[in-house]
Parts: sequence; C-alpha cells; structure tokens
Amino acid sequence: MREASAFDVLIIGSGASGLSLALALADEVNVAIVSKSSLEESATFYAQGGVSAVIDQADSIESHVADTLAAGAGLCRADVVNFIVKRGRERVEWLIEQGVPFTTHQSADGSMDFHLTQEGGHSRRRVVHAADATGRAIETTLIDRVRAHPAISIFERHMAVDLVTFGKLGITPDRCIGAYVLDLDEHIVKTLGAQCCVLATGGAGKVYLYTSNPDVATGDGIAMAWRAGCAVANMEFVQFHPTCLYHPKAKSFLLTEALRGEGGYLLLESGERFMHRFDKREELAPRDIVARAIDHEMKRTGGDHVYLDVTHKPIGFLSEHFPTVLEKCASFGIDITSMPIPVVPAAHYLCGGVVTDVRGHTSLPGLYAVGEAACTGLHGANRMASNSLLECLVVAEAAATSILTTVAETPTRPDIPNWDESQVTDADEEIVVAHNWDELRRFMWDYVGIVRSSKRLERARNRVDLLHKEISEFYGNFRISGDLIELRNLVQVAELIIRSALKRKESRGLHYTLDYPRRDDKNHAHDTILRAGDFS
Ligand code: FAD
Ligand code: SIN
Repeated sequence: MREASAFDVLIIGSGASGLSLALALADEVNVAIVSKSSLEESATFYAQGGVSAVIDQADSIESHVADTLAAGAGLCRADVVNFIVKRGRERVEWLIEQGVPFTTHQSADGSMDFHLTQEGGHSRRRVVHAADATGRAIETTLIDRVRAHPAISIFERHMAVDLVTFGKLGITPDRCIGAYVLDLDEHIVKTLGAQCCVLATGGAGKVYLYTSNPDVATGDGIAMAWRAGCAVANMEFVQFHPTCLYHPKAKSFLLTEALRGEGGYLLLESGERFMHRFDKREELAPRDIVARAIDHEMKRTGGDHVYLDVTHKPIGFLSEHFPTVLEKCASFGIDITSMPIPVVPAAHYLCGGVVTDVRGHTSLPGLYAVGEAACTGLHGANRMASNSLLECLVVAEAAATSILTTVAETPTRPDIPNWDESQVTDADEEIVVAHNWDELRRFMWDYVGIVRSSKRLERARNRVDLLHKEISEFYGNFRISGDLIELRNLVQVAELIIRSALKRKESRGLHYTLDYPRRDDKNHAHDTILRAGDFS
C-alpha cells in the first residue's frame, strides 16, 4: 500500500494560470502543484508578445471588447468578454506587485509609462510586455513566489495520469476527488486526494507536426476531463500562428506578432508584399486571415515559406524591443537587421477546451479548469493576440474565490484506492508508441490543418479511430510511461478536434473548409459542444 497524500486543492500545471491560482489560494488553504516537467516548462514561459489590457488613457474597455468580439467571428460570449477585459488592468497591476519587470518608456510629458505594443486584431496599442520575453518574466517571477510559500507543495516531474472521481468508484453523485500521478523519476503512480482539483494543463499544440508549443502541450487536461465525463467545446478552432521561424534546426521558435505590430512586412520570395490582397488591415489582420493568406501564397507559388522583413527598422529599436528574436535568429545565421526572416505558420493555440464559466467551474463538481485547457467563451472562433495570458490571470483569480467556498463546504473525501498495476507487464514494443506519435502528428497536419475538407477530415477520423483502439489496448496491457500517457491524450484530443470539425459545416474564424467556404449564421452561430456518450 502506498500512502495517499491529501490536499485542499490540487493544481495540475504550472503555467500562468496554475501559478497565479496557487498564489491566490495559499494564504487560506494548502495547495499542491503537480507539473510534469520542471516548474517553468510551459507555454507561458515562451510567450513573447505580452498581456493585453486597457492601460492607455485613450483606450477603453468598449474598444478592447469590440476588437475581441470581431476577432472571435460571432462566437465569443459577450458577458465573458466584458468580465475578463474589465479586470485586465487590475491583473497587470497584480503582476507588477509580484515583481514582473514590464518594459517602460518615457512619455511625451516626460513621465515613465508602460510601453504598449500592438498586435493583430487590436485597433490600438494595448499590449504590456517585457521586451520580447514577457512569458519568461511572468513565469520566473511567479515561480519565485510559489517556491517561497510555505502552504504550497510542489511536485515537479510528476505527470497526472487520470482524475479520480466518485463516478469511477461507483459512488453517486459524481465528484472529482483527486488524481493518479506518475512520478517520472521513481516510476511509481501516486494517489493525490483533494477537496478541489484544477486542470491548468495548457494547450495541445503537439497534436500537430509543426507547432510553436513546448513538448508539454499534449492536451492532457482536456483528455482527462473528457474521460471523467466533462463537456468540451469548440475543439475545431485551432489557431495557427502565422510566423514561426523556418529553419531546419529551429524547433518551434516563434517570431512574435509584435514584429508586425511595430511595422514588419510579410514578403514573397520575389520580395513582393501580399497581405493587401487579403485584408485591408494587411499584416495586422487577425491571425486566421494572415495564416490562411500565407498558406494560400505558399501553395500558389510552390514555396515552403514566406519572409518577415524588419530590415527597415532601426537597429537600436530592434535590439531594445526584440533582443530574444535577434539573438535566436543570429544563432541560425539570420541577421534580422539586414535580411528578411524565413517564416511558416504553425499550430499555436487551442481556442476550445473543457467547458467552464468565468470562475473555472466545469460540469463535474470538485473539478475546475483554467487557462488554455478551458473554454470560457472569451475567444470564440479565433483568439485575439495576447488575450490568452489575460484570460489565465483573470479566470484564475475568479476561480480562487469559488474554490475557497467549495473547500470550506466539502466534507472530507473517502479513501481512494491505489493505482492497480496487477494486470499489466512491461511494454515489449516501445516502437508502437514512437511510431503512433509520429503518424498522428503528420496526418493531423496534412488533413486537419489550416485548410480542411470533408474528405480529409473523414480520412483523419478513420486513422484516429484505429490509433485509439491500438493505444487503448496498449494502455490496458502494459505498464504506463510518460510517452504512453501523452500519446493516449493526444489521440483523444485529436479525435475531439476532428469530430468537432466534421460537425461544423461552414467556415468561420479558424475553421476553414473547402466544402463549406462561407460562414453560415443561420445554422452554425453556436459553439460545438461534445459530451460523453456522443460517440463511443
Ligand atoms: P501553460 O503555460 O502551457 O502551462 C501548462 C502546464 O501544465 C505546464 O506546466 C505543463 O508541464 C503542465 N502539464 C500539462 N499536462 C500535465 C500533466 N498531465 N501532469 C502534470 N502537469 C501537466 N499568449 C498571450 O496572451 N500573449 C503572448 O504573448 C503569447 N505568446 C505565446 C508564445 C508562444 C511561443 C506560445 C506557445 C504561446 C503564446 N501565447 C501567448 C499563448 C499563452 O502563452 C498560453 O495560452 C498560456 O501561457 C497558457 O497558460 P496555461 O497556464 O493555461 O498553460
Ligand atoms: C506573439 O507574440 O505573437 C504571440 C502572442 C499570442 O499568442 O497571443
């Protein structure tokens, strides 16, 4: 028997949402943070552009709301957008109190102000940032705070495998009461019980062959919630960032949209600009439009990339505002001050996720979801740049209030049975896992990418069904490993993306299909919601 540990709150994930939630709770209750890699490894750490918030006197909540709704192509929930946008400034002030060093500049009257940058879809400068490494500044600052807090227990290199629920134990009514967690160093599965569990597990970019996301982005939280019976929504809306570095040795390096916000151009191999042919906002159109335009031009010209050109900007400006981009590109022999940067679109952000309200409640009592793993209704069919970190911070804060009440009202949970390994043996063919990882990511890229068709989606569904069966069998018979757990989750998330895409017989926001190239407000102006039992 392995002793089960019990906490008031178990937070799975250590990005902006998980860390800020832990800090909001830890003065009142005890908290465990489980993170499958080092604490800092997260999408948050790699965020470049910044956090959108109404800071400038000349800006307004109404304007930020209107831009968000426009980018979301008719599917944002206006009440949610208002709730989150209104709280942006206060959350940025909280980050500053924690010690995040946002970039400042001298304003016209000589006073120091936060420098605001501009990104696609925003009608004005609205993005606070720490040069071009905003995520690193936020993540490292919050980690310092979390590590110093006596009521926070940290489990690094621990991977949540599945949620423990009353339902799975045959008890009604259903409720989440903890999670099974694999210690990746000791290779044992631990049982962590909690009054409340929170999925702060981020997105699922790794479901695609090319992605801006770090390796940890395998959709684990969404898959765990789905298996626990939660509803998920809008999984077809996968955002492809228009500009990731195209270089054989560069793995998932993003060229921040702020480069275009500060005047960068997109060019064809011939040196011709092309965005004016697709949208009057040109390079600053929302991401779905820019990524599709690049995809179109690459297919039309037979090229495998386009270029992002900032050579007309002063060298001093580039080194002050984009030191990370400058240094990283230089390490690949690209001097951004004198040559255009080769770029391609790559999977970047999942607008869909576990259905929640703005306080992170899922459909399962005792279970919350925050950050990219959740679908609150803020982003609709297309997320506007820098609205994700904003959502992480606002929803985590709002969830904390609800979680404190739930913890106070929840009776102590019953004992959780230990993880049962009596029926499994060591895997004899690890190659199955490696092969299936590769196959999945390739067909998702080829068939469920920026431009889709019903035929390609059907092909993808057939393949994912086969993988699903193979992985379930493997999972049932062999001792689990980190790779197997992630593959199982990726296959689940891929299935949810494909099924949702097949349901949306129109093109809207990030979902574009050749068979239904127009938006159809009469039949499809609603979320795509999937529930357990919708398919086997
Ligand atoms: P993450 O920060 O991704 O953290 C997820 C955590 O969960 C990680 O710690 C991971 O290890 C852990 N985890 C996952 N599964 C498990 C498991 N099974 N067990 C234990 N732990 C697990 N958004 C903006 O608003 N502004 C930007 O400038 C911006 N730039 C971006 C740049 C890049 C390169 C990328 C990839 C994204 C960017 N985004 C940006 C999006 C934004 O960074 C993310 O949406 C946001 O950081 C997600 O935060 P999160 O807390 O939900 O998840
Ligand atoms: C970027 O800096 O381009 C990424 C911003 C975002 O994803 O919100």
